[in-house]
Amino acid sequence: MNKIEIKFNATLENEAVIRNTIGLFAATINCTIEDIIDIKTIVSEAVSNAIIHGYEQDKEKEVLVTGILNDNELIIIVKDDGVGIDNIAEAIRVNYSSKNRSGLGFTIIKSLSDDLQIKSKKDMGTKLIIKKILTIKGQ
Ligand SMILES: Nc1ncnc2c1ncn2[C@@H]1O[C@H](COP(=O)(O)OP(=O)(O)OP(=O)(O)O)[C@@H](O)[C@H]1O
Ligand SMILES: [Mg+2]
Repeated sequence: MNKIEIKFNATLENEAVIRNTIGLFAATINCTIEDIIDIKTIVSEAVSNAIIHGYEQDKEKEVLVTGILNDNELIIIVKDDGVGIDNIAEAIRVNYSSKNRSGLGFTIIKSLSDDLQIKSKKDMGTKLIIKKILTIKGQ
């Protein structure tokens, strides 16, 4: 088991830092480039949701991202204490966006991961638990 936790201010400037950090974390087990690209995309969507929707880009607020590696299984947890999601079934629908965006973030995370759990309630923040099984290079 190997674990990292990163707490950061809710500004989109930090999105690339976190995406690349979790990508590097996954690379410690020598997984494929394809896995790393998927992981960066997953983290990018989850973290930008926490910043944009959870916190309305209030830079004073903090997002917590945890990465856990158990052999070739990566768990990514993205947590905010923001506005929360009232209707999760509606939020995960393809093209649904409360902000006139493309509404594809959850669809992308689901399609690139092996499991997505969303724990959220209105005004209670949001926690995503994402599982990705990695392929080790040369195996
Ligand atoms: N962390 C969060 N806190 C509160 N609401 C969220 C959070 N993440 C997602 N949502 C809600 O779920 C909806 C769908 O999210 P999704 O990422 O699929 O689309 P989007 O962010 O609106 O658009 P895109 O990701 O394509 O830019 C959002 O519009 C928002 O209403
Ligand atoms: Mg999104």
